[in-house]
Amino acid sequence: MHSADSTAPRPRRFTAGGPLTGRIRVPGDKSISHRSIMLGALAVGRTRVTGLLEGEDVMSTAAAMRAMGATIERLETGEWVIDGVGVGGLMQPRTALDMGNSGTSTRLLMGLVASHPVTATFIGDASLSKRPMGRVIEPLSQMGADFTAAPGGRLPLTLRGIAPAVPISYRLPVASAQVKSAVLLAGLNTPGITTVIEPVPTRDHSERMLKGFGAELAVEIAADGTRTIHLTGEAELKPQTIDVPGDPSSAAFFVVAALLVPGSDLVIENVGLNPTRAALFGVLRDMGGSIEELDRRDVGGEPVADLLVRHSPLTGIAVDPAVVPSMVDEFPVLFVAAALASGRTITTGLEELRVKESDRIAVMRTALELAGARVTETEDGLIIDGTGGEPLAGTPESAEVATHLDHRIAMSMAVAGLASRAGVAVDDTRPIATSFPVFEALLAKASGAA
Ligand code: S3P
Repeated sequence: MHSADSTAPRPRRFTAGGPLTGRIRVPGDKSISHRSIMLGALAVGRTRVTGLLEGEDVMSTAAAMRAMGATIERLETGEWVIDGVGVGGLMQPRTALDMGNSGTSTRLLMGLVASHPVTATFIGDASLSKRPMGRVIEPLSQMGADFTAAPGGRLPLTLRGIAPAVPISYRLPVASAQVKSAVLLAGLNTPGITTVIEPVPTRDHSERMLKGFGAELAVEIAADGTRTIHLTGEAELKPQTIDVPGDPSSAAFFVVAALLVPGSDLVIENVGLNPTRAALFGVLRDMGGSIEELDRRDVGGEPVADLLVRHSPLTGIAVDPAVVPSMVDEFPVLFVAAALASGRTITTGLEELRVKESDRIAVMRTALELAGARVTETEDGLIIDGTGGEPLAGTPESAEVATHLDHRIAMSMAVAGLASRAGVAVDDTRPIATSFPVFEALLAKASGAA
């Protein structure tokens, strides 16, 4: 989907409103939604999914799986049903697969296609077309797939898959769940055992869900934390009924907003708290944030709770780089929290942020400076001297934050606007629809403006 490329930009100034109160529910987890569709499309029979994120990124995955033979439908009840083609059954797509803004769709689907006798061309928007694909081209080439990519290993890219592919043992050179998942998904239709060695743990939704669908998958954890994942190929996946928990990465914007806006007392229901995803909440608690977990339970094989968040004065900290993979998407909004804290927040080990939907270190530095925050950029992070709870000045009347087609920059700076005197103007809110189409409506509801 190219909505953010093909319609006019939608600028908006986000201004301080009332406290955030009441109860809200954020949409389904993006990572789990992508994987539900992909594995459902590879199972034999009908998978049912409730709570699926209906954002543009997930719709890109659904469109691609349809183009390769799966039947995927949304029922009037909001439930999604997927009739899979079986592992090995992907069909040749007739046209290029349009991945829109979605890195997860691109990299995971490259894995799936790599071990099928299918040739597929992947295209995407201006942001996705700048992102590195060499990290998946490398292991998938070792498995026998063949690639023609734009310079620098970027989209547009044509992949010629191979069956049978060659099982490999691959040690991840970057901490990336997308690369891990691409290799494991390629392993599904590969005879023998495909192994991924992960020195630093990343989100484990693929492993959980592969097991849930009946794949033979074993994980060994060494004394130093290194995880070795073995997947037995030529798997047969059995259809599942999946309830997708709320996305902690979407909840993050409301958690920070409620901490920052005086008088806030907000419950965010059904938030996924998989330990490989939830580090932000621990960091915010270490900064003094009041975040309580209510009714901890299991949803769709993942830990979930309702979060009760109350306005709290925050204090800057040095964030342990070891937690980076467990909150890799949450740094833009953490930077906003830091800009309002008392004292200094130091972040390091964030080099991966430079290759997300935008360079999130440089883009957030520029955005926060425009809004009046004190920020220093380093090679691998930001150092932020907070206001001690005083609102930021906000962006000048004639200036706008450049979001660079990055949903998380737009939402983070919207939160900054709530804690500012003049408000924060962002150049384009369209990218928000990639992961959180109801963000603005929920914000209006929580702050009493709806
Ligand atoms: C994701 C993995 C992360 C994350 C992205 C979703 C996934 O990317 O940033 O939003 O669903 O596997 P990397 O694997 O590139 O770190």
